[in-house]
Amino acid sequence: MYDDTVAVLENRPLTGGHFLLSLHSPRQAKATRPGQFAMVRLLGRSDVLLRRPMSIFDVRPGIADCRLTIDDCKTAATEPSAPGSSPAKRELTGEPRDVFQSPIDNRQSAIPGNRQSAIPEAPAIIQLLYKVVGRGTRLMAELGPGDQVGLLAPLGHGFFAEEYFDRARAADEVLHVAGGIGIAALLLAARQLAAAGLRQRLFFGGRTRDDLVGVDEFAPYAHEIAVATEDGSRGHRGYVTRPLEEYLAGNRRKKFLMMACGPWAMLEATVERAKRYGHACLVSMENRMGCGLGVCLGCSIRVHGTGHGTYERVCTEGPVFWAEKVI
Ligand SMILES: Cc1cc2nc3c(=O)[nH]c(=O)nc-3n(C[C@H](O)[C@H](O)[C@H](O)COP(=O)(O)OP(=O)(O)OC[C@H]3O[C@@H](n4cnc5c(N)ncnc54)[C@H](O)[C@@H]3O)c2cc1C
Ligand code: FES
Repeated sequence: MYDDTVAVLENRPLTGGHFLLSLHSPRQAKATRPGQFAMVRLLGRSDVLLRRPMSIFDVRPGIADCRLTIDDCKTAATEPSAPGSSPAKRELTGEPRDVFQSPIDNRQSAIPGNRQSAIPEAPAIIQLLYKVVGRGTRLMAELGPGDQVGLLAPLGHGFFAEEYFDRARAADEVLHVAGGIGIAALLLAARQLAAAGLRQRLFFGGRTRDDLVGVDEFAPYAHEIAVATEDGSRGHRGYVTRPLEEYLAGNRRKKFLMMACGPWAMLEATVERAKRYGHACLVSMENRMGCGLGVCLGCSIRVHGTGHGTYERVCTEGPVFWAEKVI
């Protein structure tokens, strides 16, 4: 974990008040593992003292030289991509694709046995996918290329590499269940599992179609994506747990590993389905955080333990837990 001041390369507005923030931070990018998160500090803002926790959505190759100046980063992010330009430039200016219209095929990305490929060889860019919900995220939305933020990352233990890999390998399919911005916690894991040649399916819910961000990036790793919106503007009308339930009920003989991140109500409903159909389930939990480092205990949640249960810190023992552990 490093406490660095890093440069903003791009802060791309998406639909529904969501943004994709690209930060130049080679050593933090290199240290990142699937399921980990970062704490963002807005510099020079005495009115927003606490850092804001954000899942590390993606780690990308790019400008590997940490000695680059902020102006270099700014130029790299805003220059139009040209044949032979660096991967970072091409990635940051890539054309959007409508994954709901195109068939999903992850065969090209499946590299059997390669566990490390969730993180590219020369990682340099950390991407955070966030939604504006309050003062801190509203100020984050004002960041532009060349600005700086404090970034404490990577934090948390993320997915339990060996244990979840073994369960994923033993399953017929990995089912990702994401509610809105919860998808940010799952992309790196999906890429890692796809690299090992494992079959995956995404159940993705939002209030409206504008909440379905990050799905373009996820699409290469999922054999199928089932979408639900509460207003019916895309996919099934209602909660995402409905198509999930239908799939589980129609495939009772199959063994799944479920991985979920989203609002607590969605997590609760997902875990209830996992229990009912007898599948292992990992949940990436979110809670209000003070320090992100295991010191303030502000993020503690109740878990099963001795006596009436005990507490664990989302920032340190989590954010990923086996579902049966969480009360
Ligand atoms: C491990 C972890 C990973 C996260 N990953 C992401 C992510 O990838 N993208 C993203 O957009 N958000 C993520 N969050 C939530 C994010 O931290 C909050 O939305 C953010 O801190 C709100 O800051 P604010 O100043 O804008 O809002 P505040 O003014 O502090 O609060 C505004 C509203 O947001 C709610 N809120 C505040 N903090 C949290 C929180 N920690 N979790 C849920 N709701 C909160 C409040 O209840 C309130 O309704 C994550 C949280 C955790 C703990
Ligand atoms: S946020 Fe301080 S202990 Fe987790």
